[in-house]
Amino acid sequence: MGETVESISKEVERLRREATDALSAAGAAPELQAVQDRFLGRRSGAVSGLLKSLGRLDPAVRRQAGQQLNLLKEEIERGLGEARERMEARALEARLTGERVDLTLPGRRPARGRRHPVTKVREELEDIFLAMGYEVYEGREVEDDYHCFEALNMPPDHPARDMQDTFYLERGEGLALLRSHTSSSQIRYMLDNPHPPLVRIICPGKVFRRDDDITHSPMFQQVEGLVVGPGITLGDLKGTIEAFLHTLFGPQYPVRFRPSFFPYTEPSVEADLGCIVCDGKGCRVCKGTGWVEILGSGMVHPAVFEAVNGRLGRPVYDPEEVTGFAFGVGIERVAMMRHGVDDIRLFYGSDLRFLEQFRG
Ligand code: DAH
Repeated sequence: MGETVESISKEVERLRREATDALSAAGAAPELQAVQDRFLGRRSGAVSGLLKSLGRLDPAVRRQAGQQLNLLKEEIERGLGEARERMEARALEARLTGERVDLTLPGRRPARGRRHPVTKVREELEDIFLAMGYEVYEGREVEDDYHCFEALNMPPDHPARDMQDTFYLERGEGLALLRSHTSSSQIRYMLDNPHPPLVRIICPGKVFRRDDDITHSPMFQQVEGLVVGPGITLGDLKGTIEAFLHTLFGPQYPVRFRPSFFPYTEPSVEADLGCIVCDGKGCRVCKGTGWVEILGSGMVHPAVFEAVNGRLGRPVYDPEEVTGFAFGVGIERVAMMRHGVDDIRLFYGSDLRFLEQFRG
């Protein structure tokens, strides 16, 4: 073959120029890859091809040509490496100047949830009674006639059983209902805990009635209380309710008790609180009376104990041995008075403009 050192040197020089031009023309990573393939590609690269053909040359020519070709190969590799680095630096620079990040801007605060105002009042009531040594017991929302009415001394013709007031559900073995008050939990608790009667519980939870206006929602919440033991008196009831209301609203508001009627208590009393909106002077909230009705209560009717004993089959709650008092308070009512809200439906309208006004 006629190759001489000179003719190879010329070829190397030509490739060097071509490679330099190609490298300076390459503007992006794929173009650099094309340069690499064209000169150094293992199969069809121009430099690789020449290196492969060296074997056919005279040994003296081969050595010199080999040195020149290897030098060129290193130069092209170095050129490729530098071009890649330049390209990456340019890309970084573009990102740093293009995306403007103002580190002095205040961060964006993640939206914080908060407890529902009715939940907050409910927890407050629970805390007050827990501090007085009560246990929290949750009954059931789906009840039966026995627990909701019958065992509470409500005869079958009692208006509270009327289809107008109570939601009835069809169930396999008969009628079930949505409890219309938490008083059913009194019966559940006594039947579920037939140990010697020293009861001190509150039962918070949802209740349901077919009612819907600005002071009634078809679902609302109550806290029921039940205390049973030897020698419990009306004095205990009054002291407890007064302590509870004073802790909740503040000792400056007077509490008064009025005779009332509930089938499951005898005597029955309702507790009123001096109106916190007008300080007892008379306003729209208290309808000019200076007092707001806040809860129903009374001494547990012996018929309630007898009903429980009847179910248990033994006189666990012997009305000759034990007495008790019970009460029921509407949670929304308390929340409405607290915050001056005049429409109960606002609590369940899911309007964030209303709900976000309550902290915590
Ligand atoms: N259950 C009554 C209601 O829903 C409230 C009530 C009154 C509960 C007297 C009691 C009670 O435990 O003794 O209006």
